[in-house]
Amino acid sequence: MVAWSSLRFNCGQEIANRFVVAPLTTDSSHEDGTAPDNELEFVQRRAANGFGAVISSAAYVEYDGRSWQGIGAAHDGHLSSLHRLADAMRAAGSLAILQIYDGGRIARPELTGERGLRAPSAVASLRPGAKTPRAMTSDEIAKLIASFGEAASLARKAGFDGVEIHGANHYAVHQFFSPRANHRVDDWGGTISKRMNFALAVAQAVRDALGPKLIAGFRVTPFESEADGYTLEDAKLLCNELAKLDLDYISVSLDDYRKSKPMRETRVYDGSGEESYTPAESPITEFARVIAGRCAVMASGGIKTCMDAEAAIDMGADLVAVGRAVVVDPEWLSKVRSKSEASILAGLPKDEREIANALSIPPRMVEYLLSRPGWIPRL
Ligand SMILES: Cc1cc2nc3c(=O)[nH]c(=O)nc-3n(C[C@H](O)[C@H](O)[C@H](O)COP(=O)(O)O)c2cc1C
Repeated sequence: MVAWSSLRFNCGQEIANRFVVAPLTTDSSHEDGTAPDNELEFVQRRAANGFGAVISSAAYVEYDGRSWQGIGAAHDGHLSSLHRLADAMRAAGSLAILQIYDGGRIARPELTGERGLRAPSAVASLRPGAKTPRAMTSDEIAKLIASFGEAASLARKAGFDGVEIHGANHYAVHQFFSPRANHRVDDWGGTISKRMNFALAVAQAVRDALGPKLIAGFRVTPFESEADGYTLEDAKLLCNELAKLDLDYISVSLDDYRKSKPMRETRVYDGSGEESYTPAESPITEFARVIAGRCAVMASGGIKTCMDAEAAIDMGADLVAVGRAVVVDPEWLSKVRSKSEASILAGLPKDEREIANALSIPPRMVEYLLSRPGWIPRL
């Protein structure tokens, strides 16, 4: 089975198997962006199963770009917390990858500083109640790119094996590529190639900061299902440009790998994702074809069994990232490995106290998970 075989990334690092813990925000960090013990325990218990790699929850690179109260990789004060996080992720020999992000127009207004929400353009998100951001200045854009690079330097100093740029799920990097969110007419917008510039500059800054021997990954939403959004063809062009940089993998973010659905901007709020357009061929296959072996392809969305993992690999993925299945069952991979899939927990227990204690999920994360009905199955 391919899923249990190793793979060597372009940078030379080897991943022992193809299973990866997907980035999972716990919404449970301290106000200063450091990780509390219960967040480390959440990660460590899941990593202990022997995943090839574990990707962290998304760490903010600038204070004003926070979309929740999560971990930070914004200054030296975060270094010792990042160190502890890398150690927890690596406890069972997994590669530890730090995901980094900026919220742009979907940062939480109450978490931003005096100057408020900033984004590529002064266009509000489709999320209900979204506030209109102000358009970033060219200096702010240059500073944000540098902040991604500095976050990658912190990751290197903290002992991570690599960094994943969160270019998906409607956060700032995605917003720059989106014709819905980016109405600029300077170097950062106006044509598709200019809308790519931010993503490419961030990828280059991260690679420069990491040096050649650490893993650099990029997560992308393969198309926007909202009207006037970017198409799968647009995203393939971006992917082709990204693959020319020294990346180690491109991760395709889907809600369900079989249905090829990406996350809509409003999905988790109004459940309207169901009717989204589905391309004839899986975006995983299309991306694999464009990338053509220049770096690895990671797939995610609804991977619940070893057969799912193998099916995503058959579609063209090299790696699979597993999210909700490991939230619900911390021992998911051990059960898959020992062919005891029948004993995998299929949903969160009814009793909320049991969720936190039995599954090592921080109480604030439990609230967060339960705040969006239908997001995570219940027993
Ligand atoms: C609680 C939770 C937190 C998440 N946090 C992040 C995150 O920080 N960064 C990210 O790229 N995706 C995040 N995601 C999306 C997952 O990484 C994954 O792509 C998605 O849940 C689909 O895969 P799954 O069906 O295996 O859960 C999160 C998902 C969940 C359920």
